[in-house]
This record gives sequence, C-alpha cells and structure tokens, in this order.
Amino acid sequence: MILRSRHLLGLEDITAGEISLILDTAESFREILDRPIKKVPTLRGITVLNLFYEPSTRTRISFELAEKRLSADTISFSTSVSSVKKGESLKDTVRNIEAMKIDMVVVRHSSPGVPYFLTNCVESNIINAGDGAHEHPTQALLDMFTIRRKYGKLDGLRVVLVGDVKHSRVVRSNIWGLKTMGASVAVCGPSTLLPYEVERFGVDVYTDLDEAIDGADVVNIMRIQLERQQAGLFPSQREYTNLFGMTKERLKRLKRNYTIMHPGPMNRGVEITPEVADSKSSVILDQVTNGQAIRMAVLYLLSGKKEKEKEEDDE
Ligand code: CP
Repeated sequence: MILRSRHLLGLEDITAGEISLILDTAESFREILDRPIKKVPTLRGITVLNLFYEPSTRTRISFELAEKRLSADTISFSTSVSSVKKGESLKDTVRNIEAMKIDMVVVRHSSPGVPYFLTNCVESNIINAGDGAHEHPTQALLDMFTIRRKYGKLDGLRVVLVGDVKHSRVVRSNIWGLKTMGASVAVCGPSTLLPYEVERFGVDVYTDLDEAIDGADVVNIMRIQLERQQAGLFPSQREYTNLFGMTKERLKRLKRNYTIMHPGPMNRGVEITPEVADSKSSVILDQVTNGQAIRMAVLYLLSGKKEKEKEEDDE
C-alpha cells in the first residue's frame, strides 16, 4: 500500500487503506517520541517550507518539530516579516522560495483551496495545514490516531462533533476520515452554525446536545469562534454554554469508557468547562503529542514521491 497522491490536500477522497497506512506509520514514529533522543535521519537532505498565512500554535510547532526530528532542513515563513507586507502575491512568494531549492511546503491559509492552487504553481509536495473552512487533514488524522490508540479500532464507534460545524475545517476532515474508517458520525450545534443540507455528508444531525451525546463513545468539541456572535449566529456566550457547553453533568450521558477531545485552542468555560477539559477522560494533550507522530508519518510517506514520479515520467 502507498499513498496515491504526492500531496495531502484533504481527506474527502482518501481511501481507508491510505488512512490505515498513515496511522500505522505514525505508530512507529510515536515510539521515537518516547526515546531520550527523539531524532532519526529519515528526511536528511529534504528541505521543508512552513508557510503559515494564519496564526497557529499546535500545527505549526508540531510540523516544525516533526521535520527537525526527521532531520529535515526547515524554513518557517511568517507573513508579518516578509515581502507579503509589500504586496507580493502568494504565487510569487512560493515560487521565489522554491527557487532556493525546497522539496515540500506545509501551508495554512484562510482561503479554501490554497493548497490545491499551490500544486499548480510549484513542484514541491504540498501538505494542507488548514485552508479556510475547507479541510485540516492532519488534525483529523491525529484525532483518528488518538481514538484508535485508545479503543484499538475506529469501526463501529459513535463519534459526536460539537460546535460550529458550518465554519470548521476540523469537522469536515473528521467527517470524511471517520466515515471512511467505519465510525458512526454525528454533528451537533445551533442550526445557524450547521451547513445547509448537512445530512448529505452522511452524518446524524442534532441541535440538542443531550440527545446527540446519548450513548456516544467520543465527543470532539470545536472552538466556538467568538466573532460568530458579532455576526448574530448565536445570541450570547452564556446561552451557547448552556445549550452546547460540555459540562460534568452532561458526561453521564456518554458510554462508560468515553473520551473527550478538543483540537484547540479552547475557550475554557464556553464550549467546555475546565473540569471536563482536565478530566481523566480528556485526551486533549494526547492529541497534541500524537499530532507530531502523524505529521512525521505524512512527511515521510510523501517525501519520496516527487523523485519517484519524476523517475516514472523519465522512463
Ligand atoms: N488545532 C489547531 O489547528 O491548532 P492551531 O490553530 O494552534 O494550529
């Protein structure tokens, strides 16, 4: 089994075999993270550009550490201190950096489709680190990896994704990935934060959190973006917390061996109470640790593909 594409743009078209390959590969890299010296020579000679046009703590540091721990050379690009400030376009920016001989680009951007756009601008392998409200594939992969490590499977589990379903790239990638792996997926949020005809994603849809989480194995809670309140999509933070906040009382509805997840950053006291976030069933920090193993696996699996495709073209 190999990955069919030399880019990772999203999970909508990825197969169960490809997801299993990434998760299985991540298991080997996860073991390296527990060693005293967390470094292997796997990506020696490969140069990776981390191109972040949007703020990030977890994804950016996780990719940077994954690259360093695989012995790649890395460059981290920040718009605030670059010639983007002088009006240079995304295409020119990436083409100029690629002219300095890079091999892979990890990109985060507020516009959906930017990672795909870059595949037509440069030769490097492109990895989507979050594009607008479209996809965040490595987040969903690390979420699935974390769930699989706890339950030994994804197939047959009931996973509920709670919050701003309409604007969440994490929800979208989780839906595609989890359904492909045989999980039963439900989404829950205010009707103003659910996409039009969301049922067409093949998920159960709820606007009542207590109903949604009844008998669930996993609840993955999304950050409520406070600017949505200014846009009038929910009346107040207090009302959102009352109706959709994950509290200790609500945990009683879940299955016995339940799991609480959040991709971060969290609004403590809004979509999740501190006691739930810090409870023993919360795997929020495990998600962060596992994210590095997933990113190491993705970088490793994609790194060889550019040269291989070139060789095949030459034959
Ligand atoms: N989960 C996530 O994407 O977090 P960051 O925005 O900090 O990268």
